Amino acid sequence: MHLALSSPETLPFLREELARALPSPMLESHGDSVLMLKTPGSWMETRAAMGPAAFARQWLPQARAFPVPSIRVAAESLVTELIGTLPDGGAWRLHIEPRLGVAEAGRHRCELIREAVVEQLRKRRRSLLKGLEAVPKSTASDPSGACPLFEARESLVQLLLVTPEMAFLSVLVAPEPARSLGWISPFASGEVPVSVDKAAPSRAFAKLAESELRMGRAIRAGETCVDLGASPGSWTYQPVQRGARVIAVDRSPLREDLMRNPRVTFHQGDAFRFVPETPVDWLLCDVIAAPERSIGLVLEWVRERRCRHFVVTIKFKGHADYAQLDVLKREMPRHVASFQLMHLCANKNEACVFGTVGDGPCKNAG
Ligand SMILES: C[S@@+](CC[C@H](N)C(=O)[O-])C[C@H]1O[C@@H](n2cnc3c(N)ncnc32)[C@H](O)[C@@H]1O
Repeated sequence: MHLALSSPETLPFLREELARALPSPMLESHGDSVLMLKTPGSWMETRAAMGPAAFARQWLPQARAFPVPSIRVAAESLVTELIGTLPDGGAWRLHIEPRLGVAEAGRHRCELIREAVVEQLRKRRRSLLKGLEAVPKSTASDPSGACPLFEARESLVQLLLVTPEMAFLSVLVAPEPARSLGWISPFASGEVPVSVDKAAPSRAFAKLAESELRMGRAIRAGETCVDLGASPGSWTYQPVQRGARVIAVDRSPLREDLMRNPRVTFHQGDAFRFVPETPVDWLLCDVIAAPERSIGLVLEWVRERRCRHFVVTIKFKGHADYAQLDVLKREMPRHVASFQLMHLCANKNEACVFGTVGDGPCKNAG
């Protein structure tokens, strides 16, 4: 059984998405934001068969019920399990998260379990404790900070508390977390915290910041971006703050200070007609358009290799058009080295596709 975590609002769309991707999948909801996929297939087989799932923020592969009668007993049996499963001396991450229905409920219990696990490891297997302490914490809220993607040597242990006494346990041994980019998030429950920047022109900045964090790659000083549908300018503001140059395209001007910024070149016109003179480092696109137009645009840019990296929003009206994302799942792997397709924490009725064109073929296509 594999578990997918979604948000309560998008769980029905995740169910539809998986039902489209897999032959008669056995899907069962657990609470308002967990979907159980009951399939005999291994995680690798399931991942390859279903492709990316835009409405899942995190997966718990090969999960099974794990009783939590008390904090001490749960910690003891978890450590016993890990001693028998994790490679000795390897690096690993531990996500212990609540899913009790009420925001933040159970967080304290999760912290106590974690402390008890560390204590047990200290007593019983110090080499495993060293492996746990060897990986960076995935709590960065600033994209220009640490890049918290999985390395090939890292395993992931997830314990999801669904009642105070019952959890699901998933242990994914290295190198599978690194191979599962786009399915398995280094952020616990796939929730990415982005700090608010009040100086940005709009709240749209959170979408770009979250995409960079999920990619483990930030726009850097000296790089060049094309920002399509750039006004009022949050997606231009962030790279410019870091010392990158931006060619911003919109029908309307950006905020005044950005229009005056020497690192910004503004083109007033149609985003769908703009072609850069030479390939750029980043395509950024948050244009308001029908989903098929934005999907066509990003596919054209990666096919023509006009950019090295891309972050593109696909916007929807209503809930009827989500199946159009399947075009990206089909076509992207032919043209890019890696990509992710996701309904971000910062997205409204949208999804984002982001990744790296590189030399291909796609390394995370399933
Ligand atoms: C959601 S806003 C972009 C917000 C922007 N990313 C930010 O961070 O401030 C969408 C923008 O797309 C622009 N737009 C829509 N259709 C366009 C087109 N065909 N060509 C250029 N701009 C377009 C709109 O003028 C609007 O400014």
